[in-house]
Amino acid sequence: MHIQAVKPRTGTVCSRRYHCTADVVLVMLRPMTTSSFTGPIAEYYAEFRRGYPPPVIDRLMAALDLDDRSRVLDLGCGTGQLTVPLAACTRSVLGVDIEADMLRLARRAGQDAGADNITWMLGADSDLGALAPWVGEHVLDAVTIGQAPHWMDPPRLFRALRRLVRPGGGVAVITNGTPQWLQDVPWSRALRRHLEAWLGIQLTARCGTDPSSRRAYREALIAAGFDQIIDAAVTYREDLTFAQLVGSVYSAMPLDQLPQPDEREAFEQQLRDALGASTFAEHVPVTLLVGRRGT
Ligand SMILES: C[S@@+](CC[C@H](N)C(=O)[O-])C[C@H]1O[C@@H](n2cnc3c(N)ncnc32)[C@H](O)[C@@H]1O
Repeated sequence: MHIQAVKPRTGTVCSRRYHCTADVVLVMLRPMTTSSFTGPIAEYYAEFRRGYPPPVIDRLMAALDLDDRSRVLDLGCGTGQLTVPLAACTRSVLGVDIEADMLRLARRAGQDAGADNITWMLGADSDLGALAPWVGEHVLDAVTIGQAPHWMDPPRLFRALRRLVRPGGGVAVITNGTPQWLQDVPWSRALRRHLEAWLGIQLTARCGTDPSSRRAYREALIAAGFDQIIDAAVTYREDLTFAQLVGSVYSAMPLDQLPQPDEREAFEQQLRDALGASTFAEHVPVTLLVGRRGT
């Protein structure tokens, strides 16, 4: 299970296949790599992953100086957790993700929210250098990257984004809490023990939420020319049911480590016994690392 930080699997995929399986607006017409957010993992992600509540969106809008005229690219948009609420307060958002299954569900989330100002694009961070001829140079007001840069090559990515973002615009790297099995509360410790016993591995990776990853992103932003750095944090509380907790854990597993359908009942019963509670309170620390370009 990846709950440990494993790099995206590399594979050559015919982009036509994506065109058939996902209803996306624009497809990068060349082979690309894929991540492991496919099939049931994408479904669990869409249903159970944390979203970004209004105080987080407000803080992000303020840090990037965005308003209803702004155009934003949300990279690694997943199933639209950040894309959809951002679209409600900006002129338009381009959601980009490497996984067709995630984009298909993101598109559905946008439709359910009644958003008609989102464009979805299948693509990787490494494709963004090719975007300037389409959208123009120095035109975007902001690029947001929520819970995703640990899958990417930030130094190269930020250099490519410098070409797309307008003077005064910025890039925001956002983390949405600590993995649920790595928190310092009894239920989280019990969850970690259960997962480690089930998987036979130690779970330590923090998926880019740790201070050293943050430092590396900051340095890469500065090196790319986003030299006005803003650090902000917002904490919110969430009370999870058992089903929400399990769904969120499943959404973080690579497909080959997800308990098989016929194993899930036993997995969940053992976990329920280990946790010994039915609701789980989380204090979710969101961090925003924003690099702005000078005007
Ligand atoms: C943990 S999810 C984050 C989703 C959403 N932004 C959020 O905050 O919940 C990471 C997303 O990054 C995507 N991803 C992974 N590698 C990528 C890459 N190289 N380029 C673009 N997207 C990528 C995955 O497919 C996945 O949807």
